[in-house]
Amino acid sequence: MLTERQLAERVGAIPGMGRIAAALADAPPCYLVGGAVRDLLLGRLPADVDIAVEGDAEEAARLLAAELGGTVEPHRRFGTATIAPSAATGLPHEINLAGTRRETYQVPGALPEVEPAPLSEDLRRRDFTVNAMAVDLVARQPALHDPLGGCDDLAAGLIRVLHPRSFEDDPTRLLRAVRYAVRLGFALEPGTERLARAAVAAGAPATVSGGRVADELLDLLAEAEAPAGVALMRELGLDVALCPALAADADLVAGAQLAAGETGADPVLAALAALLCRRAEVGGAAGWVDRLEIGAAARDAVLRAAASAPELAARLRGPLAPSALRRLLDGEPAEALALALALGAPGEPVLDYLGRLRHVRLEIDGADLVAAGVEPSPALGRALDAVLERKLDGELGGRDAELAAALAAARGA
Ligand code: CTP
Repeated sequence: MLTERQLAERVGAIPGMGRIAAALADAPPCYLVGGAVRDLLLGRLPADVDIAVEGDAEEAARLLAAELGGTVEPHRRFGTATIAPSAATGLPHEINLAGTRRETYQVPGALPEVEPAPLSEDLRRRDFTVNAMAVDLVARQPALHDPLGGCDDLAAGLIRVLHPRSFEDDPTRLLRAVRYAVRLGFALEPGTERLARAAVAAGAPATVSGGRVADELLDLLAEAEAPAGVALMRELGLDVALCPALAADADLVAGAQLAAGETGADPVLAALAALLCRRAEVGGAAGWVDRLEIGAAARDAVLRAAASAPELAARLRGPLAPSALRRLLDGEPAEALALALALGAPGEPVLDYLGRLRHVRLEIDGADLVAAGVEPSPALGRALDAVLERKLDGELGGRDAELAAALAAARGA
């Protein structure tokens, strides 16, 4: 347990915190809340700053922006506002302010109705005890508000919900529980684990919109400990509860994460494709990925990688001429190559393709053939392709040899 002085020092160590507190001196009571407090108590520097305001959050945000610069983006439905100070200030890249509130869930899984309420109620509406603590921002000696036992659970290494309906109200908390457990090396408190299993068995994950699932699932897959998270998802049955086409395979996710670094793939998308590729034949995978709303390019890369990686891995194990290797891999997203490697494809041909073969170009082009008297036609393109394949296979060296081979191919076509 920290003394008030140690707590004040840690709050003061967050970049820009002195200026933030000074700017809020005339605002209604303001508190540092959520993950920032958890991280401070664990001796970690918080990644972002969440401030709860017992009053008008938008007004407090404007006070802050007047002092720090940056733009205020209000979200009136939730009584929240975000400020993004310019990078030059050295302040956290995002400061989130929210009016303290109570939340009521009319429909499980949907977004809650909110109304203003004091800090004590605001802490009670949160996901886990370790995220339900606050520190006064403006008081001379900041005090910790921990009415729900967050410090004890931090010390015991436990993720514990605050009430029995927590996972039904907001099933994204199932993914959040997994994320915090693996990130912090914590366990699910036994009662919380029972509630999580009951919520999964009752189909709660399917009540959440795809966009909200994506926010939490991609955050989980971005963790360094994502493979352990995936193992826990499987253990809880959370993978198939999200989508029957998911099969959480921790080793495959670990392999995809690792191979993403070698192939230039997006590690999170490669890991998502890894969740799908064991059962890509199961119906609904494409519809589910569509509903995640991750953008067309990411969606296509994930589905293509999940579908093609097993076959790529099998074919890469066999002997392949360089031209056949290039034909096989051209047009595949980097995530497909990463996943093929994770599935056991040998590294050497993939790295040869990435480092060399995919960059090989002819020294001639169509204009050279036309200048040599060949009529422009589609046959010309086919001749150039055939010559490129021969070049890749080491049969041709230099511009003259390429031109002679291309002219022969074009005229013979
Ligand atoms: N919160 C919640 N239920 C959710 C999402 C968020 O109760 N489904 C609350 C938690 O108190 C959480 C805070 O809102 O601490 C901020 O949420 P978020 O920014 O998503 O997480 P952080 O706690 O900041 O953690 P991280 O380190 O992952 O950013």
